[in-house]
Amino acid sequence: MRPTQTPRTYRVKSFGCQMNVYDGDRMAELLAEQGIAPAAEGEDADLVVLNTCHIREKAAEKVYSDIGRLKREDGTSPLIAVAGCVAQAEGEEIMARAPSVKMVVGPQAYHRLPEMIRDAAAGKRVTDTDMPAETKFDALPRRRRSGPTAFLTVQEGCDKFCTYCVVPYTRGAEVSRPHGDLIDEAKRLVDAGAREITLLGQNVNAWTGENTKGQAIGLDGLIRELAAIPDLARIRYTTSHPNDMTQGLIAAHGEVEKLMPFLHLPVQAGNDRVLKAMNRSHTVESYLRILEQVRAARPDIALSGDFIVGFPGETDAEFEDTLKLVDAAGYAQCFSFKYSPRPGTPAATMEDQIPLAVMDERLQRLQAALNRHQLAFNEASLGKTCTVLVERKGKHAGQWLGKSPWLQSVHFEADAAVGDLLEVEITSAGPNSLGAVARMAAAA
Ligand code: 5AD
Ligand code: SF4
Repeated sequence: MRPTQTPRTYRVKSFGCQMNVYDGDRMAELLAEQGIAPAAEGEDADLVVLNTCHIREKAAEKVYSDIGRLKREDGTSPLIAVAGCVAQAEGEEIMARAPSVKMVVGPQAYHRLPEMIRDAAAGKRVTDTDMPAETKFDALPRRRRSGPTAFLTVQEGCDKFCTYCVVPYTRGAEVSRPHGDLIDEAKRLVDAGAREITLLGQNVNAWTGENTKGQAIGLDGLIRELAAIPDLARIRYTTSHPNDMTQGLIAAHGEVEKLMPFLHLPVQAGNDRVLKAMNRSHTVESYLRILEQVRAARPDIALSGDFIVGFPGETDAEFEDTLKLVDAAGYAQCFSFKYSPRPGTPAATMEDQIPLAVMDERLQRLQAALNRHQLAFNEASLGKTCTVLVERKGKHAGQWLGKSPWLQSVHFEADAAVGDLLEVEITSAGPNSLGAVARMAAAA
């Protein structure tokens, strides 16, 4: 394609968190509405959107190598747009370093892609990293397609300013989407086939809004209203901050049947000095108290968290405290990362940055402990009967893959279809998945 032609096909490649996946889907819907079709598997696209992530190291390097790989044998490139958090943080550098990039668009501005594409097709290079007052959500097309599981962004941005994190800079301040818009979007997703909706936000439990009676409600109120949508079977939410874990939300875990027994509640470290240096505004004890309360409300809840090892100044003894916390919490699954200094964040210039070899060793030990807990959690499911939501076909004929209420991947053979809720008995348990046999179709 010559750069002065309007693109006919697109490909959106999303990296990083689930919110990027959501944004990538919304961009795809927007492009489709412009009459641009998704490129067929294995075929070159006229327009490629790289929807990037900036949370940890090498993100920018990865973008440049992806841009390089898009170059075709004849030396031409597709129309390239860099979107997402790297675009927001390093848009100018990208434009300067990568002439084949024609558009740079931040996470709050991607609803303007159609105009940008018109300009780019006319030979201009355009950057839009505004955080406009008008919300992108109002400008995006209505949801028309959905698989059995869908994401719904309810809140964006972060005001917490953990000292290691770029999110408050790339995604901006905490903003909650209005209640009515969310109920509408959820209903459309369900009409389009979603049986499960995961509510997304950088601090999803900081969501606040007003219901139709003008009353202030929190995430628990929103969950209770969504639970009234008849064909919606399951509700999840991620990611939460311990400080926004209200009593109402904890209670909802015991009271709302459609709210799945799973909580992702990052703690980051198991030592109070480190937590303070991270500006986490919770302690190990206050965190464990929340887990206790959630377990009291919903005894079978599966707990998940995020950890960072090697935060500047973290001593061996302080890292040992993280291992102690892991044992005390009894997680079902977790994410763990080596600390990565992010430009512009306070921690990046702190003294006593930890050598990579020390971080490697700590991460290995932490992951060994987390894997042990994950396997123990999965093995405790053996013999249990539960409902799985069928998501897709497995590798073998007749095999299906789905998720348990506790977000475990389950494979089983059954006469099933995508979107079914099937009752199964768990017959095998590995570190990353469960095997099951089907029992009977469960009532939705
Ligand atoms: N280095 C390493 N991990 C980080 N995270 C956020 N910022 C950094 C960083 N600079 C991790 C945190 C967060 C998750 C989304 O990514 O654990 O919860
Ligand atoms: Fe980043 Fe902390 Fe905000 Fe999470 S709460 S997005 S880790 S600043």
